Amino acid sequence: QDVVRVGLMGLGTVGTGVYKVLQRNAEDIALRAGIPVRIEKIAVRDPAKERTVDVPKDLLTTDADSLVDDPDLDIIVEVMGGMDHTLELLLRALRNGKSVVTANKDLIAEHGRILLETAEAHRCDLLFEASVAGGIPIVRPLKQCLAGNRISEIMGIINGTTNYILTKMTEDGLDFATALQQAQQLGYAEADPTSDVEGYDAARKIAILASLAFNSWVVFPQVDVTGITEVTDRDIRYAGELGYIIKLLAVAKQDEAEEAIEIAVRPTLVPRDHPLAAVGGAYNAIFVRGDAIGQAMFHGLGAGELPTASAVAGDVVEAVRNLRDGVRGRMLCPCYRRKTIKPIED
Ligand code: NDP
Ligand code: HSE
Repeated sequence: QDVVRVGLMGLGTVGTGVYKVLQRNAEDIALRAGIPVRIEKIAVRDPAKERTVDVPKDLLTTDADSLVDDPDLDIIVEVMGGMDHTLELLLRALRNGKSVVTANKDLIAEHGRILLETAEAHRCDLLFEASVAGGIPIVRPLKQCLAGNRISEIMGIINGTTNYILTKMTEDGLDFATALQQAQQLGYAEADPTSDVEGYDAARKIAILASLAFNSWVVFPQVDVTGITEVTDRDIRYAGELGYIIKLLAVAKQDEAEEAIEIAVRPTLVPRDHPLAAVGGAYNAIFVRGDAIGQAMFHGLGAGELPTASAVAGDVVEAVRNLRDGVRGRMLCPCYRRKTIKPIED
């Protein structure tokens, strides 16, 4: 095979970034992957829409189903979002022997298990680095680099939109609605921003991280969630007067016996001199505590076109290498154990 053919589902914020990165870094990507990568088809809702990237019109289709059934496509990159129909499409793609790269945390946090089991059964890759914290490498570090640790805690800021809103309310005195509108214009927010501001997006991401770190299946409905819609200007001012800043933190902890996981997303008072207090705008930061590494911090842009595309493109390179070396779908579902999942006690 002299080229790997990609079907891209979605050409919105993330899809546009993926298209740009795969085009402009094509040479480096081909060197690192061992084979050139070519986008052959792109599924969109509206082919007539004006795009911020110059894409040949003949690549566009409104029929996302046709990508997963196309025998000429090797890899499906899903960056269109959605739940039930998207799940059906990705399962079908895996059953058809295609590797799948997705940024869809909603899907991974609720249906990751069936997706991973299907990928393993069909010896395909299912890669989802972009589903948590945009451009920050965190999924692969938990799966690989930190796999020798006993991890006891993951904690941090994992939603760019709410961090942007809280930063703008704190530093520039913006009101909630204006700050949210800016986050939407910058491409940070979900199609329905309720999922950001109510904390559901962060809950989905911490469920994914907890599953990886604690060898269990934690799903989104098990996370105790409070968003930022009740945080007022006055709360922010009083917190500031007392030397604190308000951040939406996601936390997951495992007890010593490794039988119970405490997990929550909540607006939290962070002391002004804590490293998380300096994480502003759409930046995310995640602390991981392991018995061997101690505490490690991962920091970077957690949302937006190019940072998210960086994570997706990295997954594409891995999928191409695995395809080339005939080692797809390696040990995707290690022995996960059932554990008690509960809210964090105050
Ligand atoms: P957008 O809404 O900007 O883009 C969605 C794209 O998918 C659009 O191009 C749309 O077409 C296309 N699309 C939607 N439904 C269909 C369908 N049924 N058939 C064909 N095409 C369809 O979303 P984002 O790019 O922001 O997000 C995409 C995914 O990435 C989501 O799962 C999101 O949670 C995730 N994500 C987003 C991040 C971000 O910073 N925005 C960061 C990390 C993950 P059209 O353009 O014609 O409307
Ligand atoms: N809406 C998400 C956020 C996108 O603001 O963090 C990145 O996952």
